[in-house]
Amino acid sequence: MRQTVAFAKWVFLSLLGCSAEGALTAMVSKWYVAMSSDCTHVFLGMKAIIASPSMRALMTLAERVARSNATVLILGESGSGKEVLARAIHHFSGRSEKPWVDLNCGALPEHLIESELFGYDRGAFSGANTNKQGLFELADKGTIFLDEVAELERKMQVKLLRVLDGVPYYRLGGVKKVSVDVRIVAATNQELETAVADGRFRADLYHRLTQITLRVPPLRQRIEDIAPLACHFLAQHDPSLRFSPDAMEVLERHRWPGNIRELRNVVIRAAVLTMGGEICAEDLPLEKNSHPEAASGPASSLEGMERKMIFEALNDSNGHQQKAAAKLGISRRTLSRKLKTYDSDFTEARL
Ligand SMILES: Nc1ncnc2c1ncn2[C@@H]1O[C@H](COP(=O)(O)OP(=O)(O)O)[C@@H](O)[C@H]1O
Ligand SMILES: [Mg+2]
Repeated sequence: MRQTVAFAKWVFLSLLGCSAEGALTAMVSKWYVAMSSDCTHVFLGMKAIIASPSMRALMTLAERVARSNATVLILGESGSGKEVLARAIHHFSGRSEKPWVDLNCGALPEHLIESELFGYDRGAFSGANTNKQGLFELADKGTIFLDEVAELERKMQVKLLRVLDGVPYYRLGGVKKVSVDVRIVAATNQELETAVADGRFRADLYHRLTQITLRVPPLRQRIEDIAPLACHFLAQHDPSLRFSPDAMEVLERHRWPGNIRELRNVVIRAAVLTMGGEICAEDLPLEKNSHPEAASGPASSLEGMERKMIFEALNDSNGHQQKAAAKLGISRRTLSRKLKTYDSDFTEARL
């Protein structure tokens, strides 16, 4: 990038003469800033729009976390972008050239999960006509993403814990031990602590999975992402369409219980049904003023300003709560309490 900027600068200077160098330096560096603040990223082929301060801080933290081999648990509502974050972690890690394997633990029955994860040898059960590598073997040296990890049966939780502890295992019906080097990233939309308290999830596995915990904030708490995301989905569907200002206002005020998945569906539906080149509020199946947090009023705007300052401080401090608290002139405990009040503590990293 720096080379490209230097080259562009050289071309400008050659064309216009060196006397304007000062002005051009300013111009080129402005252009550089504009380009580097672009909010579109691609992680393993998946496009991600990251515009809000809270998501940008989360991505910075993900980049830092990615460099280690620590297991990461990603929490967040359904459709908020947990898989996108998991892919970003693999993308930023030293394993990015190695396999990325994902498994939805809620989508397969127990006996299939076991053979999927650990593989089997020929004759292990009727129908096992060949040897089959499990996902752990396929992910060797890379990353395995266990989505909806709270759905894992207890028997599988024990097996997973052993693999995480580096204990070699047998394929089903196998006689040779297999050892793998895999980085685990898991995700759930459930509060795993409650599942542990209820006895549905093993405490030892919970602690093993939560070396680092990251929380993706729901879309309603990162309003700055709504417009760029909506425009991104609209452009993907039909680049000739635009949103009217009142349509954008409705989008920004909606609570988005289904998060980004819901936003994409609403945008595509409106794009399909609209009669003209502009999508109006009437084209959206959403209620006006449906977002109480975004409603105007002294209390909420004060809270909004406070949130903005907090997220900016976190952003400037690369997600470091102690530094952000110092910047804001409040204690780390107060900052942490405020983040909890907003229900948006996007990170609970235990570094
Ligand atoms: N930042 C983002 N930019 C663009 N698309 C996104 C972003 N985050 C999520 N999505 C899209 O929204 C959908 C839901 O995201 P996903 O990561 O699967 O959510 P979750 O795993 O939390 O349910 C996916 O289709 C994904 O590509
Ligand atoms: Mg998901």
